[in-house]
Amino acid sequence: NSPKVTVVGSINMDFTVQTERMPNQGETVLGSGFATYPGGKGANQAVAAARLGAKTTMIGAVGQDIFGDQLIKNLDDNGILTDNVKPVTDAETGTAHIILSERDNRIIVNSGANFSITKEMIQAYKDVLKDSDVILLQLEIPMEAVIEAAKIGKDAGVKVVLNPAPFQPIPNELLNLVDYMTPNEYESVELMMQIEDPDSFKQKLIITKGKDGVEIYKNSHSDPLLIPAYRVEPVDTTGAGDSFNGAFAFQIGQGVPVEKACRFANAVASLSITKQGAQAGLPSMTDVESFLKEQEEMDYE
Ligand code: RIB
Ligand code: NA
Repeated sequence: NSPKVTVVGSINMDFTVQTERMPNQGETVLGSGFATYPGGKGANQAVAAARLGAKTTMIGAVGQDIFGDQLIKNLDDNGILTDNVKPVTDAETGTAHIILSERDNRIIVNSGANFSITKEMIQAYKDVLKDSDVILLQLEIPMEAVIEAAKIGKDAGVKVVLNPAPFQPIPNELLNLVDYMTPNEYESVELMMQIEDPDSFKQKLIITKGKDGVEIYKNSHSDPLLIPAYRVEPVDTTGAGDSFNGAFAFQIGQGVPVEKACRFANAVASLSITKQGAQAGLPSMTDVESFLKEQEEMDYE
């Protein structure tokens, strides 16, 4: 069965450049391999879900410029419903400026049109939101829009997944509206410092730890359960978290239990980092199945 996943979030054009090492303060270094790729946490997560076979709707905004057109076309090409992606006149399409080095990535996001999304806009898309199996949210659009989408979802009994990235303090209201929260390691530390009763929140938590895998809590008093990642040769880890989230939402929308959903999403994330660009490498269901089969065979050897 093909679950209905609605993503409310950012759509960016990524400008990527590679360097052997990050420049120090005041320093210029020579890099190479400049390229532009469709990105934005929201769009990446939507593409991840859609490639797996989810009926995916994107709610977001781009500017009336060439990047906006290209990014909407990219979503369309991935089979995502874009009737609710508004080209706005008062801001440029969001861009992300990404420096890739062997050891890490650094990103600056110019939010542009992503920050034109208002609470009222989200209310206008109430019907689509209510009709979803899962609503998938991140923090690259205004907080009031995120809260509104979560509220509509919660009231309608739709599962709400929040990927709290990039991290910012999260209002208590929003904490109560989400079913699952998917921080990375750094974001989870920040989050736990702000939560009044961390124990009762643990069962909503899914902590993504890159090559170390994913941690979940079966209940509030036990230690976390580590679900290991799959070993692959990384080419570009940009959007690895997004691929996990898109795949996780796809599985939750099908009613798959959390632990199993995380194992599956780990496979999707591993495949996604084998190609350059946040959305390149995002697998179809068939790709995931053959990858998992290969992994199994390797285990027997
Ligand atoms: O999570 C990766 C994404 O973050 C990139 O595609 C970039 O657009 C930024 O939003
Ligand atoms: Na990739």
